[in-house]
Amino acid sequence: MAPIKIGEDRFVVMLPENRIQERIKELGEQLTRDYAGRTPVFIGILNGSFLFMSDLVKNYQGDCEIDFLKLSSYGDEKISSGKVRMLKELNCEVNHRDLIIVEDIVDSGLSIKFMEELIAQHTPASMKVVSLLMKPNSLKYDVKIDYIGFNIPDKFVIGYGLDYQQKFRNLRDIYALEQDIAVDSVTLD
Ligand code: PRP
Repeated sequence: MAPIKIGEDRFVVMLPENRIQERIKELGEQLTRDYAGRTPVFIGILNGSFLFMSDLVKNYQGDCEIDFLKLSSYGDEKISSGKVRMLKELNCEVNHRDLIIVEDIVDSGLSIKFMEELIAQHTPASMKVVSLLMKPNSLKYDVKIDYIGFNIPDKFVIGYGLDYQQKFRNLRDIYALEQDIAVDSVTLD
């Protein structure tokens, strides 16, 4: 997989496609066991979660429903604005349902905090959060992530849904800046 050059920056693969897909298969199997006999609603937070959502539900063996909402706190910046904007609302019925919030990455935790407050205005049967990536050292809000694909260092990453100025979401692998990569620091949760 060739490095990606953005200006003077070189991005190299941090998590290859096969490792991502293996982990998603495990998460799908775990969710299948945990939600046996129920019909959860997977709620993807756009835009970043679109690929993960697709692969996760393909690995979920059972009845489920899906919906999306669109939040944005980063815009085109690398640093969060600290404010979450809801650009598309939920359309599903959340009362008395088992909700599974699907994120590509939890960074400060602001988006998940926003989701928790939004859902708290309703009466779901349950709400859990699954995130492909988590930056434990970046967390600023007290949020619980129930299912984590990979804990990663506090570095800027792109690919597999994650963007740089809206581009590179379509990459199958996840990339980080070459000078930031220490493969051993990517740990499976
Ligand atoms: C990114 C990402 C998460 C959120 C995580 O979304 O997809 O939703 O930031 O960061 P946080 O834990 O600090 O809230 P972004 O606002 O960049 O929008 P996008 O998904 O459209 O890229």
